[in-house]
Amino acid sequence: MKIILAVTGCIGAYKSAVVLRLLQKEGFEILPVMTQAAQQFITPLTLEKLSGHKVVSDLFSDHTVQIEHIHLARESHLLLVAPATANILAKFAQGIADDFLSTLYLSTVTPVIVAPAMNVEMWHHKATRKNLEILRERGVEVVEPGSGYLACGEEGEGRLAEPEHILEAVLNTFRREKSLLGKRVLITAGPTIEDLDPVRFISNRSSGKMGYALAGEAQSRGAQVVLVSGPTQLEPPEGVNLVRVRSASEMAKAVFQHFARSDVVVMAAAVSDFTPANVSSEKIKKKDAKPVIHLEKTVDILKRLGQRKEWQFVVGFAAESGAVRENARRKLQEKGLDLIVGNDISPQDQGFESDFNQVIVIDSDGKEEEFPLLPKTDVARILWDKIETRCAQRAANRRPQTVDHIPQTG
Ligand SMILES: Cc1cc2nc3c(=O)[nH]c(=O)nc-3n(C[C@H](O)[C@H](O)[C@H](O)COP(=O)(O)O)c2cc1C
Repeated sequence: MKIILAVTGCIGAYKSAVVLRLLQKEGFEILPVMTQAAQQFITPLTLEKLSGHKVVSDLFSDHTVQIEHIHLARESHLLLVAPATANILAKFAQGIADDFLSTLYLSTVTPVIVAPAMNVEMWHHKATRKNLEILRERGVEVVEPGSGYLACGEEGEGRLAEPEHILEAVLNTFRREKSLLGKRVLITAGPTIEDLDPVRFISNRSSGKMGYALAGEAQSRGAQVVLVSGPTQLEPPEGVNLVRVRSASEMAKAVFQHFARSDVVVMAAAVSDFTPANVSSEKIKKKDAKPVIHLEKTVDILKRLGQRKEWQFVVGFAAESGAVRENARRKLQEKGLDLIVGNDISPQDQGFESDFNQVIVIDSDGKEEEFPLLPKTDVARILWDKIETRCAQRAANRRPQTVDHIPQTG
């Protein structure tokens, strides 16, 4: 397996040699790439001698027949940028291709991992935050920097992640790739909209980001994904079968239609629990007497799935504004789920509209695991790892007894 290790212009560039060595110990062949700025910090000779390959850094210097950035992108199995400057993240996010590495990125179809390193203010700058959000949405994995004393003399976040963490991210990427090949996955996302009249409706704050991140992750692991989505502003991950719905009843219909052909169902949508009993065909006028809206319960999709499931692995979400653990446990039981993801939607920096989520995951054996506040794309990775582990355990338990257990006769 070949990995492109790209180094950019940071003080932390010297650590790339350690990353290179760790990857080699795992049996990877390293193809080194450096930006011009990176060569101000370490010499290409170091990476060249360690890797046994010429360092590529200039888009125009190589006059062989091959176009080097395309050739390298096709020859490798992963692009790792460690350390990654604020500058290269911005170029990747905007699709700027004005040097070898940024042009290479645009030609890359393999997984991409970036390990950012920079001054704390650069790390927290809105431009960097936005660029990271764009890259994450596109499926780029970000190895979060650590916190501590920085080369600039300041303290805070921005220090390149430890080489061992970067190695772990690489190994996990190869482990996950195609781990869901042949699996049919049904995911719901976003809010539902319950109409009151032609202009007004009842809805909720769900952005759909969690469901879309789950769909993107399942897709990158090789699953066939059906994404049933309420109205959102999001671009669906490439390759998923997107089914757009509006109301809770439309969502129920779409889910029940695809359920029988699914192996795993993840209900991340915030489905309305109530809908107006009557929808006015005319706009309700201001001069009308104080209007009273009568609500009725919508179909409990999750409960129906819990009752109907045969081989399907069903995952629910419990978005709560208090007593998350207790409510999630109760919902897991009541709806007959295989796994539940509880999250507290009251803090502003997490939940519905945020890019971050802090979750507690509880399985049907009652085992729970709590995670810190993480980007939703990271939460999606964690959840698929968990789902895969639980599905494998279930398959192992169902396997027929071996011949050793058949009683001997005669
Ligand atoms: C001493 C020094 C240290 C720097 N350290 C960093 C850093 O840690 N992270 C970063 O994003 N930029 C850092 N920079 C700025 C980058 O080198 C600069 O933005 C450069 O254009 C990056 O180019 P590249 O992304 O093509 O490698 C540093 C600059 C200097 C002079």
